[in-house]
Amino acid sequence: ISVKEKDLTTYLKHCGFILPNAEIYGGLANSPYNIGCDSQIITHPQVLEASEEYIRFLEKKDQDNYLVSDNCLKCGKNKFCSPRQFNLLLTTNLEITEGKENIVYLRPETCQGIFVNFPSIQRSTHRPLPFGIGQMGKSFRNEITLHHGIFRTREFEQMELEFFCQSEEIDLKNEELPHYAKKTQDLYFQYHFGWGELCSNSHRGNYDLSQHRQHSGKDFRINGIIPEVVESSFGVERLMLAILEDSYQKETIKNAQGEESEREVLKLSPLLAPYLVAVIPLEKSLREKSHQLYCELLKNPLFSVAYEETGNIGNRYRRQDAIGTYYCLTLDKQTLQDNTVTLRHLYMKNTDDNLSPNKKKEPGSDALIYLLLFM
Ligand code: GAP
Repeated sequence: ISVKEKDLTTYLKHCGFILPNAEIYGGLANSPYNIGCDSQIITHPQVLEASEEYIRFLEKKDQDNYLVSDNCLKCGKNKFCSPRQFNLLLTTNLEITEGKENIVYLRPETCQGIFVNFPSIQRSTHRPLPFGIGQMGKSFRNEITLHHGIFRTREFEQMELEFFCQSEEIDLKNEELPHYAKKTQDLYFQYHFGWGELCSNSHRGNYDLSQHRQHSGKDFRINGIIPEVVESSFGVERLMLAILEDSYQKETIKNAQGEESEREVLKLSPLLAPYLVAVIPLEKSLREKSHQLYCELLKNPLFSVAYEETGNIGNRYRRQDAIGTYYCLTLDKQTLQDNTVTLRHLYMKNTDDNLSPNKKKEPGSDALIYLLLFM
């Protein structure tokens, strides 16, 4: 079968599977195509330059990025100067035409990729208003102050939803308005260092689509109107940090002999746990049977399974507790007789005494039902 490249490209573009990067601004030569709303990281200068306001926003948006130096380069004196603004945009060079290098940007937010692709996505999906376009991917900012671990980094993962609608009925407060937003309402989380922004929600009006319409000359209207945009923007690392800080606990536990020790435990929801189940053979003789069960569980795509066989049983539980594994299925000699396993729940603190037969029913049939539902 021979498929002509041109036909295929036209087809993929027409149906919205793959769209050229920043097509409304003529695209970037030799850059790969986008897929769906997974837009390019390398950003056409006009995408950002469409709005002077936009660049200024990047220069001064974040109070933390005002640099106050006690050894001023300007006056050369060792004194406290007034704050200076910094450009948060990271740039790189791209040879757009032979011998001519052009500066391009690493995107500082994922949403612009959605805005510039809006006409093509709408055209290929025929969606009437209201509808949303989401994107998750890397963003880059030349942050000056990097502190609190993954809370603020120069390269981070953003998760943004742009919801296109007609309605003005959006109840957001008019506080700390960025230049592009009509209304905004951020969500804060109390991290170990204090309150920090986790998510930013803005009613962006039709600012972005109007700017791109004006600069590209392309039609961004649907039924004669330029849609309004409501945006929800999350930093994935900040969300992850919030969940980890909320789930991490240190607990004192006692073993069957009454000896105390400490366990680190991640009390995650089973939906977020790296592994829902760990299969643990109590002895080497149970390896084969355990591996069988592990392979059986692996067939189910709805949950992830770990296999744990190194160290004593207490240490194995500790390792699974520390990463938030929701259930441990332990196989012992009795398993070979009656095919039963010990089901241990993350919230059970004891180490090895839960292996006695009378504990086999704990933590209750709900856990078993949960597992059976998925099997
Ligand atoms: N499109 C709108 C926008 O980007 P923002 O308030 O600048 O708004 C949205 O960023 C979210 O992205 C923030 O609430 C935060 O969760 C995350 N974020 C921003 N800068 C970050 C950085 N340097 N490191 C990690 N996450 C960051």
